[in-house]
Amino acid sequence: MESVKKADPAIIVIFGATGDLAWRKLMPAIYNLYLDKWMPEKFTVIGVGRAEMDNDAFCGHLQGGIDQFSRRGKTQPDEWKNFAPSLRYLKMDYKDDASFSALNDEMTKIESEWGVPTNRLFYLSIPPQSIEAITTKIGTNGLAPDKNRGRLVIEKPFGHDLESARQINNSLLKYFDECQIYRIDHYLGKETVQNILAFRFANALFEPLWNRNYIDHVQVTVSEKLGVEDRGEYYDHAGAMRDMIQNHLLQLLCLIAMEPPVSFNADEVRNKKVDVLHALRTFKREDVHNNAVRGQYGGGWVQGEQVKGYRQEHGVDPKSNTETFAAIKFFIDNWRWQGVPFYMRTGKRMSETSSLITIQFRPVPHHSFPTEAAENWQQNKLIMNIQPEMGIRLRFQAKRPGLKMQISPVDMEFDYKESYPTGTPEAYETLLLDVMLGDATLFMRADQVEAAWEILMPILEKWESNPSVAFPNYASGMQGPEEAEALIAKDGHTWFAMPLNNH
Ligand code: BG6
Repeated sequence: MESVKKADPAIIVIFGATGDLAWRKLMPAIYNLYLDKWMPEKFTVIGVGRAEMDNDAFCGHLQGGIDQFSRRGKTQPDEWKNFAPSLRYLKMDYKDDASFSALNDEMTKIESEWGVPTNRLFYLSIPPQSIEAITTKIGTNGLAPDKNRGRLVIEKPFGHDLESARQINNSLLKYFDECQIYRIDHYLGKETVQNILAFRFANALFEPLWNRNYIDHVQVTVSEKLGVEDRGEYYDHAGAMRDMIQNHLLQLLCLIAMEPPVSFNADEVRNKKVDVLHALRTFKREDVHNNAVRGQYGGGWVQGEQVKGYRQEHGVDPKSNTETFAAIKFFIDNWRWQGVPFYMRTGKRMSETSSLITIQFRPVPHHSFPTEAAENWQQNKLIMNIQPEMGIRLRFQAKRPGLKMQISPVDMEFDYKESYPTGTPEAYETLLLDVMLGDATLFMRADQVEAAWEILMPILEKWESNPSVAFPNYASGMQGPEEAEALIAKDGHTWFAMPLNNH
């Protein structure tokens, strides 16, 4: 067992506690933290919702979610019996001050029973349009009076565009300091994503090569087999750019491209990341079509099952022009990365569920081997598998055994499952523990969020003012639209996918 730094006693208030996120992710994460003895000695989870529900019904509902979604599988009766008394439910009217003072009374009562300094965590698992109203009520009703102990956790999306993100940030900052605000991007809690930092900055081997002199280009693919499922209404107002690129993919790009931090202090790491966003080349509206491609899935087949097109999904406008796929070529205008393209793509209803970062190195400066020896020759590649496979693979050239000199690519591989068979924590476990410990390294700061919006606005505006006439332009179960192949092919490259081919 790792040595455990216990967080201070905590009251975790989850707004939207009867919703999907709490059911599938937050409560399984809290329960696993509890089983692994990471939870504070004293803690209470107050689930807040608008529905009428008693404690028993609430606990039963959460247990059902944990049984279904926890990485450990079903709850064990003894363990659950010890855990369940830490849960309670409170019905609230989010518009009513009296509801907030009742919550405050409840928290004060728990604190005085415990008689120790307690952190108050407010987790907002609610639709984005309610964030301002609820945080204002938390502020004006004095629910987080101690700046060191009151923390807000906010789920994405952080606004709909640059202007609304600024407005949300300004409204949060009226009642809270930036150090109290934990904006979640769950990708940052993934083991394999955190490992990008370890890989880059705990090894002397790669950092000298990590620049324009040795790297030809970088690719990031986050593809999903799933469609929009039951989130059509939300998604139709978001699309792939807002749902994935503005946050998850740009965060991956920051981790790949950032300068080495001096320390792992939260602001130091976040400063280095935001420098990358500031260095991203701004798109001129007239250049958008050369650097960005959008797509929307039509009907098709995924794993032998026939699936609907996006416009036929529940909650989606049948004439929708929302993109379910986006591919963009970014450049980072700084000393390290000048001229190195970063190709990023994400889409729903693609052929594979796979998140992959590929670093393609430059070719050797001179070919010493005869052409026939090097027919299968490839440039070196480093592949970081984020999910579902988790690992890192280095592709290099080796002599194929035999009497003739024949060069072929081979892989050196680190596989999480093989090296660490005990399993890895879920992103939400890491992130919730960090909030309890007051470590904001893996959370998004206001300036990061705004810088990310700023870079995407020209593309979003251009697409909104010029609806696509080609949608739907890829069939479900395919690799996205042909234009995405063209985006990278015109630079002489192809998208990489697992398993890697041998050319
Ligand atoms: C969420 C998006 O943030 O991330 C979803 O809103 C997407 O649309 C999901 O499916 C992907 O997360 P993961 O962890 O399954 O890769």
